[in-house]
Parts: sequence; C-alpha cells; structure tokens
Amino acid sequence: MHLSVSIRARLFASLLAVAIISAAGLSWYFLAQMESLGLRQLEERLGSEALVASAIVSERGLGGAGSLQATLAAADPGLASRLRILDGAGVAVADSAGEAGLGIDYSERTEIQNALAGRYGAFTRTGEDEIYTMYVAYPIRSGGQIIGASYASTPTLSVTRLLREYRQQLAWALGAFLLATLVLAELVSRWLSRPLRYLETGTAAFAAGDFGVRVEPVGARETRAVAEAFNTMADEVERVVSELKNEERRKSRFVSDVSHELRTPLTAIRGAAETLLDGDVAPEDAERFLSTIVSESDRLARLANDLLALQRIEGATGELPLRRLDLAEVARRAVAGLEPLLAKRGATVEISGEAPAVLGDPDRIQQVVANLIDNATRVAERSTVLVEVCAEGDRTVLSVLDEGPGIPEADLGRLFDRFYRTQASRDRTSGGSGLGLAIVKAIVTAHAGQIEATNRPEGGARFTLRLPALKD
Ligand SMILES: Nc1ncnc2c1ncn2[C@@H]1O[C@H](COP(=O)(O)OP(=O)(O)OP(=O)(O)O)[C@@H](O)[C@H]1O
Ligand SMILES: [Mg+2]
Repeated sequence: MHLSVSIRARLFASLLAVAIISAAGLSWYFLAQMESLGLRQLEERLGSEALVASAIVSERGLGGAGSLQATLAAADPGLASRLRILDGAGVAVADSAGEAGLGIDYSERTEIQNALAGRYGAFTRTGEDEIYTMYVAYPIRSGGQIIGASYASTPTLSVTRLLREYRQQLAWALGAFLLATLVLAELVSRWLSRPLRYLETGTAAFAAGDFGVRVEPVGARETRAVAEAFNTMADEVERVVSELKNEERRKSRFVSDVSHELRTPLTAIRGAAETLLDGDVAPEDAERFLSTIVSESDRLARLANDLLALQRIEGATGELPLRRLDLAEVARRAVAGLEPLLAKRGATVEISGEAPAVLGDPDRIQQVVANLIDNATRVAERSTVLVEVCAEGDRTVLSVLDEGPGIPEADLGRLFDRFYRTQASRDRTSGGSGLGLAIVKAIVTAHAGQIEATNRPEGGARFTLRLPALKD
C-alpha cells in the first residue's frame, strides 16, 4: 500500500527517531559505565580493608578470638565495610558488626571457597528491595598455610543512590533535549521540504492551466535543477500555447473579416436587384442599378481571387518557379499592365536606377510592384509616383514613393494585415478590400525578403522592398 505522507512529515519523523535512538543509547551506555565504575571503586575499598585485616591477622594469628572481636568492634565506626574474620572452616570468629554474627558458617559462599583455596574472592549478591550487597574475601596465611579468611561486605546503597540521582537528572536533561529536538526537527524539516513544496504548488497550478507559473529555484542542487528544468519546460509550453492561441484568434478574425467583406457587396447587389424587381424604374436608374450589380459582382470575384492567391502563397510548400529578375524591368512591365488604370487616374510613374538582379517568381514579384503602384496612385489624384531601384549591401532595393497623405503612425504596424485599411481609405467609397498588402507581404516573405512602409519627410509614403541580390 502506498502511504501518502508528506516529505516534511517523513523528515520530521526521521530526525526525531535518530535523536531519540541516539539519546537513549547514550544514556544507557553512560549509566552502565557509571554503575560499573561505582561498583569497582566500592570493591577496591572493601578489598583494601579486607587485605589490611588479613595482613594483621596473619601476623597475630587467630588465637585470642575475644581480643580480635574487641579490636574489630572498636574499629567499626571507621570502616567502610562490615569486616569479619573466618577460621579455616569458613566460620566467623570475629565480626565488626557485633558478637551476634559470631559462629556463622560462610563456607558455602563462592568467594569464601575461593579465599580458603588461596584466591581472591569477590561477589555481589541481591538482597531485598533491590539492595545489593558486595562481598570481598582474602585468604589469611600463616607459615605457608591458609588459616582463614578476612571477609568484608557492604550494601551498594551509595552506588544505587548515586545512579538514581543521575537517572533523574538525565530524565530532565533528556526531556529538555527532546523538546529542543522537536522544535529543531520541525524547523529543519520545514526548511528542507520548502523548495519541494514550492515545486508542488507551482506544478499543480501549471497542471491546472496557469501556464505563466514559474518556480523559484531554491534549496539543494537537485531541487534547483528540477525547478530550472520545470521553468524551461514551462517557457516552452507557454510559448507553444500562446502561439496556438494567436493562430486560433487569427483564424477566427479572418473568418469574421471575410464574411464581413462579403456582406457589403452582397447587400448592394441585393438592394439593386430588389429595386429592379419592383418594376416601375426609370430606364437611366435601371442602368445604374445594373452597373452596380456588375461592379459589385466584380468586386466579389476579385475578393475570391485575392483570398485564393493569399491562401496559395502562404500555404505554398513547393518550390517557386524562380527566374533571374531585374527589378526595374519588372516595374516597367507592371506599369504597362496597369496602363488603363493609370490613365484613368491621370497618374504618372517614373522608374529610375539600377541594381543587381534577384531570384524570384516573375508573376508574383510583378504583382507585388503592381499592388504598391496601385496603392500609390490611388491615394493622390493626378500625381507622380517614383519607383527607385538601387543596391544596398547584399540586397537589391525597390522603393515606391507617392505624393499622398502618408500613413498615420498608428496604422504603420498593421498595414500588412489582411483586410486592414486606414480610416482615410475606409471613408472612400472606391476602396479595395485591404488584401493587397497582405498578399505583398506573403510573396515577399516567401522570397526571403522584407517589405517596410515609412513616411517621407517631405510628405507621402514610401514602401521599401528588399530582396537578396544575386551574385554573378
Ligand atoms: N501609398 C499609400 N499611402 C497611404 N496609405 C496607404 C498606401 N498604401 C496603402 N495604404 C493604406 O493601407 C491600406 C491597405 O492597403 P492594401 O493594398 O492592403 O488594401 P487596399 O488597397 O485598400 O485594397 P486592395 O489592395 O485589396 O484592393 C489601404 O487601405 C490604405 O489605407
Ligand atoms: Mg492595394
């Protein structure tokens, strides 16, 4: 089963466990050390008293037990232990605790058996109430013979009491230590898991669709790396999403623009046709309505053609039929094609300059130039339009300069959008559909060139077309 426990809780529990285990282990170890140290010291004291007694008795012998008993009893207040002198059979012949202990047989005890066999003997025995008593026995020798044993004993109360006191103090210290550990573990686990929590909230928000979310790269190297990787991924996703959204917006605007553009001529045609159907129309009016129907139908057809052309150029995946082109020559052919229109507008076009040839689709580049000249001669009546060709670095430039009103700053950015017209040309009845420059832009982009609109200092607009020059 998978437990859903936060990394913070895990860290907290781990830190606490480590602290508790090490504190408990250390306490146990030190208490055990202290106990064995206390017992050893006690044993040493008992040992020295038993040793001195053994040495004295070995000098004077066991005889005269009465005076031995009196000596021991007199020494008792100064002794650390209860001191007994046993004869060779392990029976008490003197006891510092008083005459009541005389005659008791200790021969069954291991330490006494050891001492009577000539070895040092020590033993700790449990008494009632967990009170231990320590026993130390030494052989008493006389003339190479073991004649008895000195036997010292004392309750280990001093050690036990000391330990109890220590245990209590240790409990307090441990309590304080655990409290501090609790606080510290909480702080540390919070601190260590914070970068991960950032990551968690960030990625959750991102997953919920907030693509602008970024995670601050903080914490350990690994969490920073994850945060940075996440941010990189988020940048990429955000970019793609915004591109998709733009594309979506562009498409829906295009569709609404197209239907809007279709509605105007269709309304005009329908109005004229209905009026004619009603009958009772003067012959000259009928002619006017019929010519409206024809010109508006033309406009619809042109619109359909332009849209189709745009669609083809933008969606073109195949190669363009590229030729070597002289831009001045292309301009001359464009002017020739526009001759009737230019004559109607009373416009003059002057072509000048020369520059290296370019590679291009002849029909399409001519369409670009024709569109620019069409626009330039439309914005001013009976004007002269200049077409200049020149070289600029490794590019060939064709500029179209007119004598019109120029282009409002605000419109410069959107001029090449589909269906975009400035206010001035929207007010005019004889406007185009606003597709000309969009087509120009698409063709130029397909030729790896640039097109730019600026205003001339002396008035009028300048359209600058740049294409990569052909090196011979
Ligand atoms: N030389 C110019 N001087 C001032 N404004 C211009 C000039 N050329 C284009 N414009 C503005 O840019 C708009 C877009 O031009 P574009 O060629 O795309 O469309 P159009 O000429 O109105 O219609 P279409 O070319 O589809 O018949 C024009 O409507 C006009 O407002
Ligand atoms: Mg145009």
